[in-house]
Amino acid sequence: MWNRGTLSGFAKEHLRDRFLVVVSNREPYAHYRSGGSIRVERGGGGLTTVLDTVMQAIGGVWVAWGSGNADWEVTDSEGKIAVPPHKPSYTLKRVRLTQEEVEHYYHGFSNRFFWPFFHNMQDRVHFLEKDWEYYKEANFRFAEAILSEVRGHRSPVVWIQDYHLSCVPRMVRERRPDAILSIFWHIPWPFYDIFRTAPCRRELLKSLLCCNLIGLQTPSDRDHFLEAVREELGLPIDYSTHVVEGDHPTQVQNFSASIDTEVWMHLATRPEIDEEMVRLRQHLGLKSTGFLGVGVDRLEYTKGLLNRFEAIDIFLKNDPQYCGKFTFLQIAPPTRTAMPEYQAYGEQVKKKVEQINAKYGFDRWKPIELLPVQIGAEELAVYYRAADLAIISSFADGMNLVAKEFVASQVDEKGVLLLSQFAGAAHEMKGALLIDPYNTEQFAKAIKLSLEMPLSDKKARIQEMQTHLKANNVYKWVGDQLLENTKFFSPRGD
Ligand code: UDP
Ligand code: G6P
Repeated sequence: MWNRGTLSGFAKEHLRDRFLVVVSNREPYAHYRSGGSIRVERGGGGLTTVLDTVMQAIGGVWVAWGSGNADWEVTDSEGKIAVPPHKPSYTLKRVRLTQEEVEHYYHGFSNRFFWPFFHNMQDRVHFLEKDWEYYKEANFRFAEAILSEVRGHRSPVVWIQDYHLSCVPRMVRERRPDAILSIFWHIPWPFYDIFRTAPCRRELLKSLLCCNLIGLQTPSDRDHFLEAVREELGLPIDYSTHVVEGDHPTQVQNFSASIDTEVWMHLATRPEIDEEMVRLRQHLGLKSTGFLGVGVDRLEYTKGLLNRFEAIDIFLKNDPQYCGKFTFLQIAPPTRTAMPEYQAYGEQVKKKVEQINAKYGFDRWKPIELLPVQIGAEELAVYYRAADLAIISSFADGMNLVAKEFVASQVDEKGVLLLSQFAGAAHEMKGALLIDPYNTEQFAKAIKLSLEMPLSDKKARIQEMQTHLKANNVYKWVGDQLLENTKFFSPRGD
């Protein structure tokens, strides 16, 4: 069983004196100046949540884009700072990007090409040569930062994260043939029929194959990746081991990103939580017998928020007996706010909620409470535990950690997880009610079914998923990858 202690012991034993560098676009902590003071903000999204937990356990250096406006006021001359701020346990090294690079590499290529393309939302995809050039340029800066960190260290372990940095493996491999390189792809990998339309597809695959290990979220992501390699590059693949035989062998494997299950269970059993749950219901105008639904998503179009609210609308229309007795609390922190398409999506979501609230609301009761703010884990645990159901309705999603956090926090075992069949978590969360976010009528029926499900059934579902999450936590996610990495270590003295 993996936990923080076993992972940290394992990392010490297996990495020994090998130097570990993790690299991602998003940083785990950003510093912002407001007036005379500087505040720290956590990076949004699943990637930083999962890696921060891991880095706190094993230490090392994390290279990432310094995106906060006061980031450079608090770092040393090499752009470094010890984090987490309250209990420093690893080093964050910030990469400085110009405004133009941010515009073309991050907003442009990463968010307007990679993100919608790999989530199969083709009508939102924009491929621009200029963005692609800037993307490679920015990747080069990350590669330079890594190379300067690993200088003087033999066979360093470099662990690259996600679609923002797909050219980094080639850039590092060219200069450090001895590096143990791996990448984890946090988002889905599409079917080959979609992938073959990406103009940069061969360059992308060739760079990724400079890694020793390529991690993807699910078995289907892994299989889609291998199919792309076969079709585009015609390289030999051993399908029994999922190894691609290119210039050197590359292991391709699925590893489900996960959570610190114990921490969520602990947060959900804090002594103050009973009082906080009562206050929450009072605030929402819900009696103790009323039902609470919860959604926690970045304000992001792949999360299917409009379809989710449409399903709630149909549910209340078909089953008006739930009016006044069911409230859906949607936490939706704004994301990628500099991009007009995200601003427009935020407006659409707000409008849809207002329409539904105007249609059904009365007295103090509203069917949907929208909170467009970033909430900390302690408070999220209150919502997760208090909820009778959680909805994840993504059109596509690499994993979805919220699904796992909700299950771990269900200490009373009375909540039902409604989970999109298109989220990576659907491969694992066998006790969830799977939904199709496009079929809003069936989706509405699933909401009713979950509220009326016998308690014994709810308990059995949650227990099964909690058992799974205890064994398949974030420490296993990284431990399994480190273990795969060790296959590529030459005996010490190399
Ligand atoms: N999250 C948070 N505060 C919020 C909303 C989300 O801390 O107000 C966290 C949430 O707990 C989860 C992560 O952000 O750990 C979201 O990860 P997920 O995999 O569900 O989706 P992603 O944002 O990566 O697409
Ligand atoms: C997803 C991606 C991450 C990204 C996060 C937040 O989880 O897989 O790589 O960091 O979304 O998005 P942002 O653009 O704010 O970093």
